[in-house]
Amino acid sequence: MVASKKNRFSWVGQFLAFVPGKKSLYQSAIVQVVAVEEGAPIDTIQSYQIKLDKDIREAASHSIEAKDWIKIAGKGKPDKKTGKIEWKASTIKKVSLRKVAKVKEEAKTRSHSVQSKSLSTAKAKPTRILVCQKSSCRKKGSQKVSDAMEKAIANAEASDQVIVKSTGCLKCCKTGPTVVVLPANDKNKKTSKERHRKVTPKAAKKIVASVL
Ligand code: FES
Repeated sequence: MVASKKNRFSWVGQFLAFVPGKKSLYQSAIVQVVAVEEGAPIDTIQSYQIKLDKDIREAASHSIEAKDWIKIAGKGKPDKKTGKIEWKASTIKKVSLRKVAKVKEEAKTRSHSVQSKSLSTAKAKPTRILVCQKSSCRKKGSQKVSDAMEKAIANAEASDQVIVKSTGCLKCCKTGPTVVVLPANDKNKKTSKERHRKVTPKAAKKIVASVL
């Protein structure tokens, strides 16, 4: 799992055992995590060993027993040598089964909304910019217009949002180079497409910027 340097987490799960360390009998807790309340998704099938902040060890040892449902929160930090995330809790407390069910339900809803968002992003079509490359427009510099657009798109790292296509005569030969913009996911092409005339490379960059 990739985590940022100070990756915050808040999980609910079942407390399994304390793990002693050099300075305390309650240095870490083994927890079977069942749902993520805050932070990056994790594998909730496995159990995690989470170091307890020294300020909470004593209280935890008195209030929590094996198989209790708990909420545990803190920060994860990658180990400098191994890169493996080390979890350190600043709070640990018992929670009801109802709370566990609620967090599980919320986590499920979040994951569904992320999935449907990525699905809709995947379906999004790019804006298409048609540049006439027939003889009259070519003579007036339509290739330079296309090149300027491609460059502007590359600079903006927007090749998934906008594409430039060469096209045949767009019936505005006297006022070329001619460009037509077809907006992304355009359902009403006749009314929303834009036609640009006498397009220069400078104007081409502005057209790209206007659709990003
Ligand atoms: S040649 Fe470009 S619009 Fe006709």
